[in-house]
Amino acid sequence: MIFDTSSLDRAALHGLINGLVYPRPIAWVSTISTSGQPNLAPFSFFNAFSFYPPTVAIGPGSRKGVNKDTLRNIRETGEFVVSVVTEDLAKLANATSAEFSAEINEWEELGIPGADSVAVRPRRVAASPAAFECRMLQIVDLGSPDSPTNSLVLGRVVRIYADDAILDGIRPRSDALQLVGRMGGDEWCRTTDKFSLRRPDSTDPAEVKRTLDSSSDH
Ligand SMILES: Cc1cc2nc3c(=O)[nH]c(=O)nc-3n(C[C@H](O)[C@H](O)[C@H](O)COP(=O)(O)O)c2cc1C
Repeated sequence: MIFDTSSLDRAALHGLINGLVYPRPIAWVSTISTSGQPNLAPFSFFNAFSFYPPTVAIGPGSRKGVNKDTLRNIRETGEFVVSVVTEDLAKLANATSAEFSAEINEWEELGIPGADSVAVRPRRVAASPAAFECRMLQIVDLGSPDSPTNSLVLGRVVRIYADDAILDGIRPRSDALQLVGRMGGDEWCRTTDKFSLRRPDSTDPAEVKRTLDSSSDH
């Protein structure tokens, strides 16, 4: 089946894109409004796009044509913090996705302890083992100005917090992190079922093809 995206409605596109592009890492994004109101919400349109310079992006949307609090706060203040989501934090992160009104403080209402950031004002989630302090680089509004939809927010990572317990030297240990991801619908996934593949180190296609027959990398 081929879908013409121009003839699909919002719900159909949501199902197709989110059901085909996964696993998506989850950014638990904290921001502060210009009036000082803290906000916390999860976003699975999230990834790192460069480590040099360190750059991440999130895709916060709009509700009925009005920017979500996260997007509005980043637009106004230029700052956000991404805390990573582990398996034992998944339920709590999910709870912060409730469509609360802007004056609700998710941290207080759901009893989520925060820890001060170093270079930006929004706090990180204290129980999360890693966080990225970000300054907004650019916002690309993907919809039209009269009908706001999703936006692409690019952020320069200015500080990285990593709990010593998840580090081996300066290398994060995936077995200690146990991050989770998002799939389509309400499905989430673990990152505990892993396999390794060595990258081809040859520039000779015949040699690279020979590695396909070897099972030693699994
Ligand atoms: C795991 C998860 C991932 C989500 N990812 C996104 C996303 O990428 N973009 C988005 O606009 N909403 C996403 N949502 C929904 C937002 O978290 C939700 O709309 C939230 O209320 C936004 O909060 P805010 O208005 O305080 O910014 C996600 C929800 C969950 C549970």
